[in-house]
Amino acid sequence: MLQVSNLAYRYNQRHRSVQALASVDFTARPGESWAVIGPSGCGKSTLLYLLAGLMHPTQGSILFKDRPLTESKHEIALILQSYGLFPWKSVLDNITLGLRIRKFSRKEAIAKALEMMEMLGIADLKEAYPTQLSGGQKQRVAIARSLVLQPKLLLMDEPFSALDAQTREKMQDLMLEIFATHSMITVLVTHSIEEAVILGRKIMIFSELPGRLVEIVDNPGMGSSGLRSTTEYLELTTYLRRRLEEIKTNGR
Ligand SMILES: Nc1ncnc2c1ncn2[C@@H]1O[C@H](COP(=O)(O)OP(=O)(O)OP(=O)(O)O)[C@@H](O)[C@H]1O
Ligand SMILES: [Mg+2]
Repeated sequence: MLQVSNLAYRYNQRHRSVQALASVDFTARPGESWAVIGPSGCGKSTLLYLLAGLMHPTQGSILFKDRPLTESKHEIALILQSYGLFPWKSVLDNITLGLRIRKFSRKEAIAKALEMMEMLGIADLKEAYPTQLSGGQKQRVAIARSLVLQPKLLLMDEPFSALDAQTREKMQDLMLEIFATHSMITVLVTHSIEEAVILGRKIMIFSELPGRLVEIVDNPGMGSSGLRSTTEYLELTTYLRRRLEEIKTNGR
């Protein structure tokens, strides 16, 4: 379980101090995927960095499995938009690296990596280097690299924003398959309302700076097949769009 209580963060720099997040409270359970939406610059990436343990809250607390988050860092994966692949390593070596660091034998690491690559449809790219890949392929390598480590908390910052609409839908469907087979908590930041409805069992709406958690929208239809063509989907995307407009005009 991931418990976030009264979380706030302020960037303190010599000439500029920014209150990026204020009073964020939520509890996520294993197997749940959470989507985060809100205006640009409202603190969404800041929230992910805090959840990854890369920065420490100015106020409030984050507990993972009832313990301070810092004790579970090895169970957390953060996927950034820039993928973070090592250009001088092959796809296979990029994916096995984390396992090797965790002392898996080369043979075991390769077996695990190939299984994950098979699932993500990138097994035939194992000898390739990151510069030889398309954006969607790089994204899948980055996801494979995180998932082989079987994280309990998967954090993704606008992972599919650089992809064309069709590839993006394919990646969303793939994520749904992964959610169904891996019991982890996922927190996904997105600028796409549609993507939030497809991938978020819970959808967090943030306000303008300082980002406050204005509303948590329940989305019980998430993961059901053909969701994109239902009225439920249309109603929810319309609702979220209206809420973001309201937040822009009156802050809540
Ligand atoms: N290192 C930093 N020092 C000072 N201010 C920062 C720093 N990083 C971010 N900020 C400020 O904190 C606020 C929140 O930034 P953050 O990157 O979390 O927003 P975001 O919601 O992810 O935005 P976007 O949707 O554009 O990615 C912004 O106003 C930003 O200018
Ligand atoms: Mg951001």
